[in-house]
Amino acid sequence: MERKPVKPTGKLGVLVVGMNGAVATTFIAGVMAVRKGYGVPVGSLTQMATIRIGKREENNFPKIKDFLPLYDLSNIVFGGWDIRDESAYEGAKIAEVLLDKDLDPIKDELTALRPMKAVFDQNYVKRLEGTYVKKAATKAELVEQVREDIRSFKAKNGLTDLVTIWCGSTEVFIKPAEVHETIASFEKGLAENHEDISPSMIYAWASLLENTPYINGAPNLTVDMKCVHQLAEEKRLPIAGKDFKTGQTMVKTIIAPMLKMRMLGLEGWFSTNILGNRDGEVLDDPMSFKTKEESKLSVIESILQPKLYPELYKDYYHKVRINYYPPRKDNKEGWDNIDIFGWLNYPMQIKIDFLCRDSILAAPIALDLVLLMNLAHRIGFSGTQEWLSFYFKSPMHSENVVPEHDLFIQHIKLKNTMREIMDEEPVNHIDEKIKMFK
Ligand SMILES: NC(=O)c1ccc[n+]([C@@H]2O[C@H](COP(=O)([O-])OP(=O)(O)OC[C@H]3O[C@@H](n4cnc5c(N)ncnc54)[C@H](O)[C@@H]3O)[C@@H](O)[C@H]2O)c1
Repeated sequence: MERKPVKPTGKLGVLVVGMNGAVATTFIAGVMAVRKGYGVPVGSLTQMATIRIGKREENNFPKIKDFLPLYDLSNIVFGGWDIRDESAYEGAKIAEVLLDKDLDPIKDELTALRPMKAVFDQNYVKRLEGTYVKKAATKAELVEQVREDIRSFKAKNGLTDLVTIWCGSTEVFIKPAEVHETIASFEKGLAENHEDISPSMIYAWASLLENTPYINGAPNLTVDMKCVHQLAEEKRLPIAGKDFKTGQTMVKTIIAPMLKMRMLGLEGWFSTNILGNRDGEVLDDPMSFKTKEESKLSVIESILQPKLYPELYKDYYHKVRINYYPPRKDNKEGWDNIDIFGWLNYPMQIKIDFLCRDSILAAPIALDLVLLMNLAHRIGFSGTQEWLSFYFKSPMHSENVVPEHDLFIQHIKLKNTMREIMDEEPVNHIDEKIKMFK
């Protein structure tokens, strides 16, 4: 690092797309509660975790928030877009994640937070209807309208830095196509209303043109396209995605490395979920589910490397189901049945029943990502931020490398990058004693 980054003194604007959804309101309300002293940011590494600096015997474990020059929560200003003209308070009440006892102390602040009109088209999210939506003759004009929103949000609130984070619904499955290849082809597509350009891409394009890093919390293609990589590099902006790694996939990326590390075989992995929130309703549409399924399926294969270990992982069966079941609301239940085998191929089973709260797990991820992406931006990191793979189900990666899904490796990479940013030695876990025998 040429020069150590310093603590920012201004204000950080966080633009949330899907501002009134379950994840977004849980994230926003949580930050408001924590900074007023009403809550604890459980699950957030930037707020709660420590990082070892130097050798083990030095006993130096500062908190990450004291080690890295991140924005304080008190200097975050929220804004965003949604498809209904409701305040963040109304959104939080509809989402039914947080209880009144947690919402009441921040009711005024949440009520004052209202979304800007969305870029929305039902062709990309079949199960939703938008009533608070921008109108324009072309997608290029919509980009300009979002750019104007970003500029006025920045000016009105006297912001120094900005980050956009997608907490909006999962869009239908879109494959990378010619229109996504170059900046020129994408701009032509915008002007011609190309059908492979979805609303999330319009927000991302507008954000980058306004020098704003973009985080993709859903499995949508959005910033995982060549034209966006080019634009991000050209403008020296960080991008990150895809799909927050929360419940079942987080568990998968712990269990699968365990099997591989101990050279245990896998015969089948059946994962099913019930959830009853709006996300569950959107994912009930087969085209949106396809986007999610792609994101969830690749995880195990990439960790187990069947080509390297055919005797253990060649033919395993992997199935992922998501069932919309309204009574559960945001309290998802995810079951995993894992058929494994050990010594001389003797079969064994693992059963997991994770009764999680989706948005409670996603909110701290959103917070860490906005703070770390802003840091990345200030120190000149650009393009895909692979060191943030820890937070994603389907981490974006360079073309010439395989993605890293293993949560433990992702965690080491995350913390070593933090050390590198602050000019500290990476921790390599080599036993110092072995050097005596050399
Ligand atoms: N909750 C989790 O643990 C988790 C984990 C990983 C990914 N995700 C993803 O995060 C996203 C949000 O999940 P959620 O549970 O909050 O869903 P949600 O349905 O409660 O919220 C989505 C919000 O996005 C809004 N929206 C949809 N399209 C929009 C557009 N074009 N512009 C502006 N707003 C738009 C909706 O009106 C809604 O308020 C989903 O894509 C989901 O798959 C969630």
